[in-house]
Amino acid sequence: MSVMDIEKKIKDLTAELNHYNYQYYVLADSLISDYDFDLKLKELEALERQYPAFADPNSPTQRVGGDITSKFKTEKHRWPMLSLGNTYSQEELFDFDQRIRKIIGDQFEYVCELKFDGLSISLTYENGLLKKAVTRGDGTQGDVVTNNIKTIRSIPIRLKEGDYPSQFEIRGEIFMHKSAFLRLNKEREENAEQTYANPRNFASGTIKLQDSAEVAKRPLDCFLYFLYCDNRTNLFHDHWNSLEHVKSWGFHVCEHTKKCNSLADVFEFIDYWDTERHNLGYEIDGIVIKVNDYAQQEDLGFTAKNPRWAISYKFKAERVETTLNTISYQVGRTGAVTPVANLQPVLLAGTTVKRASLHNANEIARLDLHQGDTVYVEKGGEIIPKIIGVNLEKRLPDTTAFIYPDSCPECGTTLIRQEGEAVHYCPNETGCPPQIVGKMQHFIGRKMMDIEGMGDETVETFFRKGLLHNIVDIYGLKDHQEDLQQLERFGQKSIDNMLAGIEKSKEKPFEKVLFSLGIRHVGETIAKKLAQHFKNIDALAQASTEEIEGVQDIGRRIAESVKEYLDNPIHQQQLISLRHYGLKLEIEEREIILASENLSGKTFLISGVFADYSREQLAELIESNGGKMLSSISSKLNYLVAGDKMGPSKLAKAEKLGIPMINEQDLLDLIHSK
Ligand code: IVH
Repeated sequence: MSVMDIEKKIKDLTAELNHYNYQYYVLADSLISDYDFDLKLKELEALERQYPAFADPNSPTQRVGGDITSKFKTEKHRWPMLSLGNTYSQEELFDFDQRIRKIIGDQFEYVCELKFDGLSISLTYENGLLKKAVTRGDGTQGDVVTNNIKTIRSIPIRLKEGDYPSQFEIRGEIFMHKSAFLRLNKEREENAEQTYANPRNFASGTIKLQDSAEVAKRPLDCFLYFLYCDNRTNLFHDHWNSLEHVKSWGFHVCEHTKKCNSLADVFEFIDYWDTERHNLGYEIDGIVIKVNDYAQQEDLGFTAKNPRWAISYKFKAERVETTLNTISYQVGRTGAVTPVANLQPVLLAGTTVKRASLHNANEIARLDLHQGDTVYVEKGGEIIPKIIGVNLEKRLPDTTAFIYPDSCPECGTTLIRQEGEAVHYCPNETGCPPQIVGKMQHFIGRKMMDIEGMGDETVETFFRKGLLHNIVDIYGLKDHQEDLQQLERFGQKSIDNMLAGIEKSKEKPFEKVLFSLGIRHVGETIAKKLAQHFKNIDALAQASTEEIEGVQDIGRRIAESVKEYLDNPIHQQQLISLRHYGLKLEIEEREIILASENLSGKTFLISGVFADYSREQLAELIESNGGKMLSSISSKLNYLVAGDKMGPSKLAKAEKLGIPMINEQDLLDLIHSK
């Protein structure tokens, strides 16, 4: 397909999918099966990935992922659901306060509320009945999850008798209590089901379930914290009164809310909850500070993303104490042995922490960890928990220090540690089970050979059943149909799908194959550099360590690792087999079939924007007529193809060097002149 055809294909697919979406979500009319829709969406996604310049920013692919799923009807919010600006210090809050004073003067109050760590929801009531519940989504539109929300008992489906307006929207936060989270997660663990990292994820995973009956089994709660309706000021003058009042309509409003007349009062509220939050039955991650008066809120208005009348204060990273039970040693696909601390489960920053990485032997020695120690655990960047020290006062008498093992916990081979490296390795690359499985799992991964229909679990099962021993065996699976059919939960459709995925992976370029091999220290970028430099596996295999090190950005450690891998007869044999199966072990030079040679010997540079062609299209046109593209202006340049909005420095340089500037039409004339 030419570049122009691709651009057209992307445009057509975008329009087609947008039309289906409109018919389905707005007119409730389904013109295409879900399966066919997904196929088309995937096709568009792939094209957009390859040619991002042609992607429409509002492409239907942008709606899947993030918070909007394709499973629920999507609806636009009448009032956008904005997020709050975050602050982390008293100084930042002081600045917020100053900004407000500049606009509305000194006569105002704040309302301080807890910042619940859940997912926000917008509820619409009509004549006292819950009509609609919509998630925040991207702030402009969200998923309609009314049926699921109706299972939350603290949300009224019918309001109590009261003076509520005939139509209004109320917003709040859905969350799961810590106790319910711990109980349900434990149950899931016992049933070998996937557990959730924290109550927030559990709550949002639950709201996204298709089956409301399942939602009903998981206890969720909701605090409401904001009211919207037409002519709201006819009902209330301020936020505080609205919250007080909506309680009488049947809404659950948190009692830990305070009206503050000064910033000092706000700081006091923050300090109190910074420690007291640990005694709450639910997670909060900060405090929300809102200007109380509605008229003043209106005067303050909004920035593009946040209201100017409200802000959040986020609490600092949490640290907890817990017991270090044992240390286990995990062997990765490269043989690296990573110590992992097994802790007495503890809730930290909203997550149950059971394990913490200890990195390497040096870390264990540095922390001087003893059996049964009480350790301080912190969450760095909210992702991986870390042991930051030992509470020596609580060290048990007669406990012994942990000693790093000298043999592999999986296969018993003596571990090695290379000079200058902190990590221990198990050298038994071809006989140590987690290394064998890990290498195959790496090989099939999405960023590697991307074998569809084959997952990590499949690899593990096939390894256990003796169907896979190394990456080469993956390509021999097609000759084991009968063995595959014997496997439980592996139907013919799955087998066919997997075999098709394996076959398709043979199209992956050399750089991907090289990356997929899992050579220690060879990541995606290094693999690309090696492939581009050596062009094929034979040249790379014949290169000396020094020659490999000569490639830009490749250091001694990487070069030695590549050399060692390719010198290993087992790997050499595997590469022969992979070639035999048809994998690409050399780069494919792009073959350009020339439309003409009318630009041959001429060099071009394209700058600016053009009415009828994209820059990529023009470059393709030049190259397909024998011209050569240059990347900068120099005396070697024959023509500068100049469009609108060209940078002034480029213009000046081209003028200085006397390089002829041509437009699109001149270029076409040049091509067609002979
Ligand atoms: S008021 C226009 N109040 O924090 C402001 N939000 O980044 C509307 N949140 O998306 C939000 N507790 O999910 C407000 N007491 C509270 C809150 C709260 C939690 C969440 C909410 C919002 C996010 C703001």
